[in-house]
Amino acid sequence: MRMIAAVMHEQGLPTPYVDSQPFRIEEVELDGPGEGEVLVEIRGAGLCHSDLSQVAGLRKRKLPVVGGHEGAGIVREVGRGVTGLKPGDHVVMTAVADCGHCQFCNENRPVLCESVTLARSQGLLSDGERRLSYRGHPLYHYSGISSFAQYAVTVPTSLIKIDQSIPLDVAAMFGCAVVTGAGSVFNSAKVRPGQNVAVFGLGGVGLNTVMAARISGASEIIGIDINESKFSLAKELGCTRTLNARDPNLVEMVKDLTRGGVDFAFEISGSPAAMTSANALTRKGGEIICVGLGATGEMYQYAHAGLVSEEKVFRGSFMGSCVPVRDIPRYMKYYQEGRMPVNRLKSGTMLFEDLNRNLDLLDRGEVVRQVLLPHG
Ligand SMILES: NC(=O)c1ccc[n+]([C@@H]2O[C@H](COP(=O)([O-])OP(=O)(O)OC[C@H]3O[C@@H](n4cnc5c(N)ncnc54)[C@H](O)[C@@H]3O)[C@@H](O)[C@H]2O)c1
Ligand SMILES: [Zn+2]
Ligand SMILES: [Zn+2]
Repeated sequence: MRMIAAVMHEQGLPTPYVDSQPFRIEEVELDGPGEGEVLVEIRGAGLCHSDLSQVAGLRKRKLPVVGGHEGAGIVREVGRGVTGLKPGDHVVMTAVADCGHCQFCNENRPVLCESVTLARSQGLLSDGERRLSYRGHPLYHYSGISSFAQYAVTVPTSLIKIDQSIPLDVAAMFGCAVVTGAGSVFNSAKVRPGQNVAVFGLGGVGLNTVMAARISGASEIIGIDINESKFSLAKELGCTRTLNARDPNLVEMVKDLTRGGVDFAFEISGSPAAMTSANALTRKGGEIICVGLGATGEMYQYAHAGLVSEEKVFRGSFMGSCVPVRDIPRYMKYYQEGRMPVNRLKSGTMLFEDLNRNLDLLDRGEVVRQVLLPHG
């Protein structure tokens, strides 16, 4: 079929993006669904900081590519062999998928799946297929989702069926922001009641970490950002304190508040300076949960003897170490119960023609999550 999609032909174009136009809104071809695949009509797609990083060229991608890696929509067609999903079902779309038989899938860690990781790097669906093309030329899938489009073909393990009463523009944020932020608390850190946490970066992902920390019964939830306009929403969603990352007394203040440092510092800004502070304000025996992503190959430094003698842990957390079919229904329940008001993270909606301007807004920290409505 022919459809409208946001295509990135080149990475590393300069800001402002409203002028350099990294995403071109174009008519493209989408084939399928093939065997074991599903066609989804996309009704909402969130703009994540990782999209900005792709645009900036921090991590190379197969080009040209249709952007977008979180979304929600309605199943329109299922390929041969698909069970458990049917036309009309409402689904969350997540970049996580699984092959079901590699060593990591066997350990219930699909975010590390061998074949999915390989397919993502090649711009293919996790079954190794490519269903997108552009004027007869190859066009690649971003994270197996490519949600900045009117339709997507993907695999069933990336689709989680949800209640039809949930607004699809809110459901879209569950695909990356919610699973990543909430999972960093529930799956990676496993925060227990009474523990103290700090969250660096109060954006779409970090605010989900804040909400999940509150559900876990964390005592102090200290939100840290360079942009103080993020503080009021962060407090409403669970932060007991908010502090400016550039405050020279930051580390001392957090140590005073927590009698020696936090049990877990979540780094969710992708900034080297934040990593250094996160390490400094974590107590002995505590963990630094690393969620923010910089450029491929970027290095961080830490004092090794301190890490050893203080038994600290740096723990990577990718897509919240999620198992989508287990975790997304649980987070949806928290949302429906009002315990995770994910709707508060949606700053607004946008149409295709506003996508590049919204990259600038996210880059300047003026919005939390903007959601693309591909059908207007
Ligand atoms: N690990 C994963 O699976 C995963 C998934 C999604 C996003 N990410 C990464 O997580 C990060 C956050 O994504 P997002 O969509 O929430 O971004 P966002 O742009 O909505 O929020 C980032 C926040 O960090 C703040 N910030 C910038 N520098 C800071 C500093 N030095 N100290 C404290 N705060 C600082 C910004 O002001 C902003 O509020 C990005 O690096 C993104 O690429 C990782
Ligand atoms: Zn993301
Ligand atoms: Zn696997």
